[in-house]
Amino acid sequence: SSKQMINLVEVGPRDGLQNEKQAISVSTKAELINRLAHAGVKTIEAGSFVSPKWVPQMAGTSEVLSSMQRHSGVNYPVLVPNKKGLENLLSLLSTHKDKPALTEEIAVFTAATDAFAKANLNTTVSHSLANLGPVIREALDAGLRVRGYLSVVIECPYSGRVDARVVRDVARELSEMGCYEVSLGETVGKGTPDQVAEMIEEVKKGVPVGQLAGHFHDTFGTAVANVLTALEHGIRTIDSSVGGLGGCPYSPGATGNVATEDVLYALKHSSKYHVAGNNEGTIDLEQMADIGWWINQQLGRETASRAGKALHSQ
Ligand code: HMG
Ligand code: MG
Repeated sequence: SSKQMINLVEVGPRDGLQNEKQAISVSTKAELINRLAHAGVKTIEAGSFVSPKWVPQMAGTSEVLSSMQRHSGVNYPVLVPNKKGLENLLSLLSTHKDKPALTEEIAVFTAATDAFAKANLNTTVSHSLANLGPVIREALDAGLRVRGYLSVVIECPYSGRVDARVVRDVARELSEMGCYEVSLGETVGKGTPDQVAEMIEEVKKGVPVGQLAGHFHDTFGTAVANVLTALEHGIRTIDSSVGGLGGCPYSPGATGNVATEDVLYALKHSSKYHVAGNNEGTIDLEQMADIGWWINQQLGRETASRAGKALHSQ
């Protein structure tokens, strides 16, 4: 058909779980990833190689990668903040040399403001970019793809409204440093569609829109609207989280990402867009709603996905 293909990056197992205070077992995390792959998801962010002192919940990512199934046609990127994280990942990969790679992609991250970079990475934006240079090069040399995240593209919880020209310039740096895609993080979940549109148009002056992704948190209930706005402005990759899980530990009060089920539902009857699943298939909305229900039950709460709730009560 002539529909535009939309890629979803499922960040539930990483962004979704990283902020949970209660212990979540490696087997529950691996089961979440396996279920998502079975439901047709093509890209599943599996965890982070960050400091366990900073984000204790992601400490078991090596075990998750080693114990989950590897579904053909699925990408399992992991977050890497620095050289130490990359070394840990590469040493894990080297112990699996004769088998299919545990992952073929990392994601690095920085921010549009120094205050957020300080909270999330204990450094400034410019120092974080300088630190990431060799990390990105080494990852590319090791045959990994590298994605870049850029946080607080609209609003920073510490320094307020963010200038879109700064977002454009940092996004361009990440891209020039070797990131094949830059995910624009609306970390706080306060942005409105008009602000998102204006920001994307500015960032497009620095990075081709085909290399941009949208990452929206739903604190003020605008995330689905922001996703649709991003698509209207040419973005074709959206980060979302099953059951609306999540939140960044360094963005106080921010809720989870836009729920994957809500994005799937909003695009269900679209004549313009088709959401790509793994192996040329589709992502099953009902199965995703069940997964969102199940994982939230594991965490002792109801799913945050509106479509997930509605489907469950039918
Ligand atoms: P630091 O304290 O300045 O680092 O933190 P350090 O180099 O001084 O290391 C401190 C300790 O951590 C040392 O251990 C290191 O060895 C260890 P000690 O000697 O004290 O025993 N360490 C590590 N251990 C394991 N893996 C590592 C690692 N690095 C150091 N990679 C650092 C700097 C970058 C490490 C820290 O700030 C950090 O880990 N930050 C990550 C925070 C994070 O994961 N945030 C959430 C993800 S980003 C996000 O959610 C936003 C996003 O969703 C988009 C959006 O919504 O905006 C992507
Ligand atoms: Mg996030």
